[in-house]
Amino acid sequence: MLIVSNWKAYIDDIKKAKKLVETAKRVGRTSKHTLVLAPSAPFIAVLATGNRSKVQYGAQDISITTGGAHTGEVTAATVRSAGATYVIVGHSERRAAGDSDSVVAEKLSRAIAHGLIPVLCVGEHVRDTEGHYLAFLREELTSALRTLTAKERAQVVIAYEPLWAIGKTAADAIGTPELTEMTLYIRKVLAELLPGKSSSRSLILYGGSVEPDNIRELGRTSGIDGFLIGHASVDPVTYTELVKQLS
Ligand code: PGA
Repeated sequence: MLIVSNWKAYIDDIKKAKKLVETAKRVGRTSKHTLVLAPSAPFIAVLATGNRSKVQYGAQDISITTGGAHTGEVTAATVRSAGATYVIVGHSERRAAGDSDSVVAEKLSRAIAHGLIPVLCVGEHVRDTEGHYLAFLREELTSALRTLTAKERAQVVIAYEPLWAIGKTAADAIGTPELTEMTLYIRKVLAELLPGKSSSRSLILYGGSVEPDNIRELGRTSGIDGFLIGHASVDPVTYTELVKQLS
């Protein structure tokens, strides 16, 4: 499985960051899973330089700019050069800060152009009984992938993160039957967007209150390929437990 830790702005101290990296390296030695850590941008180079472990690094966002006179922007080329191999794109917290569907699509294309594997976040705000949330999800996926070539679309990792489940506890997260349904639905939409059978190889992650209490059950039968984990990924003990639960 692919386990991406989204440190958000929780880790603002390099010593804490290094401790978490040591934890990930230790659990990574005996784990068959791919472990990706996404720290705040300034920490990427510090942590990734000279990295020879299985642990990989991701950025939490990138700019749509390609460089030049854009004060404060962090480009795809910069995070790639700093040592990141992944980037989270279209996280709901970035969308809430202004990233539109077209900005998300643009970021995907920047990421791929610079050799980063994009983790595209999609997910409905609320559930309704008429299935509007399914149409919403289809539109989010379609608008993000539409402008990419078939080959580029196949490189995008999808993270299904329903907003109503983010930042809560395992009890508020999605249940396994619902997640199974959503995984199937996302695969169906991807099959329409990707040529031939290539969508069957697309990775689909789940994110939203993944904790040691629900990670095993969610991963067992839902058909997902991994997780995007926020708050539970920034404590060394909890992180160790998360990965252990999946072994
Ligand atoms: P959470 O965050 O695990 O704290 O719910 C997940 C995310 O927002 O990526």
